[in-house]
Amino acid sequence: MPAPIAIIGGTGALGFGLAQRWDRAGVPVVIGTRPGEHPPAPGLEALPYGAAAEHAEIVVLCVPFRSQSETLTNLRGHLRRGQLLIDTTVPLAAAVSGKATRTLGVWQGSAAQQAEEMAPPGVRVVAALHTVSAARLRDPDRRLAEDVLVCGDDDGAKRDAIALIERIPGLRGVDAGGLEHARIAEQLKALLIGIDARYRTQAGLRIAGLP
Ligand SMILES: NC(=O)c1ccc[n+]([C@@H]2O[C@H](COP(=O)([O-])OP(=O)(O)OC[C@H]3O[C@@H](n4cnc5c(N)ncnc54)[C@H](OP(=O)(O)O)[C@@H]3O)[C@@H](O)[C@H]2O)c1
Repeated sequence: MPAPIAIIGGTGALGFGLAQRWDRAGVPVVIGTRPGEHPPAPGLEALPYGAAAEHAEIVVLCVPFRSQSETLTNLRGHLRRGQLLIDTTVPLAAAVSGKATRTLGVWQGSAAQQAEEMAPPGVRVVAALHTVSAARLRDPDRRLAEDVLVCGDDDGAKRDAIALIERIPGLRGVDAGGLEHARIAEQLKALLIGIDARYRTQAGLRIAGLP
């Protein structure tokens, strides 16, 4: 039995949507949740963040930007060299009561680069899944047909992340360059939130011209 994927913040909109889709695709998943904050997810194993991360080779971080740094500080003793950390964080201005169509400046350049700075040495950090709509993921009747930009400085880590993302039918992973490009992927989510509001939809991304 392969190690499960740990989804930190896996009771949330994005985390639970991913958990359901991967579970349906036969990928073993464990939900990381803060004790007492949420009832365990029905049908899926739920553990405190640290224990969930220790169980996994791949950890997907799905917490709000305002708690990204605290969560990674608390996870420091639980993450280990060689693990893949997929950061999905979008630093929306909504985190500080601003507009959801704007992003905050992050000193490191992006939320993903902040994650890399905070993760223990040897943890392979990749940024992905920013432009995927949680609402669409969570609707089992919605067929997905979209691209997921994957940014990171370790080609092997990006390949592993793309393979995992593509276990979800209808998602195609696209190598979008180094981790410094995560800033652009994160900002695209703010753009899509505005498009969602204007067109009353849940927009995604499709890159034309790929082989
Ligand atoms: N929603 C989307 O469509 C979408 C798409 C792409 C990326 N993202 C990114 O994914 C991350 C999660 O977004 P979301 O929409 O899933 O958020 P959400 O529904 O609020 O869920 C976030 C989860 O994070 C955990 N958490 C940890 N610290 C928290 C805190 N201080 N306050 C609230 N929850 C906290 C909670 O799980 P426990 O209480 O169980 O620990 C919660 O269920 C964000 O960084 C967001 O930018 C979201």
